[in-house]
Amino acid sequence: MHYDVTAANHGLRYDPFKAIVSPRPIGWITALDGQGRVNCSPYSFFNAISDKPHMVAFAGGGMKDARAFVEETGEFTCSFVSWDLRDAMNATSAPLARGESELDFAGLEAAPSHYVKAPRVKAAPAALECKWLQTVPLTSLEGVTNYFLVIGQVVGIYINDDFIADGIVDTGRMHPIMRGGYDQYFQVGSEQMFKMTRPPGGGNFDERRKA
Ligand SMILES: Cc1cc2nc3c(=O)[nH]c(=O)nc-3n(C[C@H](O)[C@H](O)[C@H](O)COP(=O)(O)O)c2cc1C
Repeated sequence: MHYDVTAANHGLRYDPFKAIVSPRPIGWITALDGQGRVNCSPYSFFNAISDKPHMVAFAGGGMKDARAFVEETGEFTCSFVSWDLRDAMNATSAPLARGESELDFAGLEAAPSHYVKAPRVKAAPAALECKWLQTVPLTSLEGVTNYFLVIGQVVGIYINDDFIADGIVDTGRMHPIMRGGYDQYFQVGSEQMFKMTRPPGGGNFDERRKA
């Protein structure tokens, strides 16, 4: 099939967009508001967007609490979701009243960050501590949308030492879960990992390590 998105004539049961741009990493965003109240919620419109410096971004519709809290205090953390945390992560997406802690609601413990005031999810295998850079209102071919891209710079990184071996991070052993379309998720493990060498001059791992 091949269809015109503007005519929305795919004829499928649901919009397939998120099943195609998939699987997506999940940024589990934790932020404090000015009163020190905590908010924690998952975002799969989330990714790393630069590595010099390290920058990440997440997008949400309207003024969700994550965006509101980040803009209020200028900081946030992104924890990463391992297989064993899947139900707790899902619970934190509940539409709680602003200021009500999703961490408490999901039975999760917070751990203090080192470089920002916003805590991270203690049980997560890794987390990024971020300072807010800007929020970009997303405009489309049709004009303004109700979506906003929140961009942050990573100023600190937590990695559970259990997942570091031989000087590298063993992502597969963290068993990250990733978002598919509909109600689908994917679990990634070491079995799915494979290696490829980039063309010469293309930034090969060993060449970069020397740099
Ligand atoms: C795995 C997962 C990924 C999600 N990704 C997004 C997203 O990228 N953008 C968004 O607006 N909502 C997303 N949601 C829904 C939000 O988590 C949900 O609306 C949440 O209540 C927002 O919380 P907040 O108001 O505390 O920020 C996602 C939910 C789940 C379970």
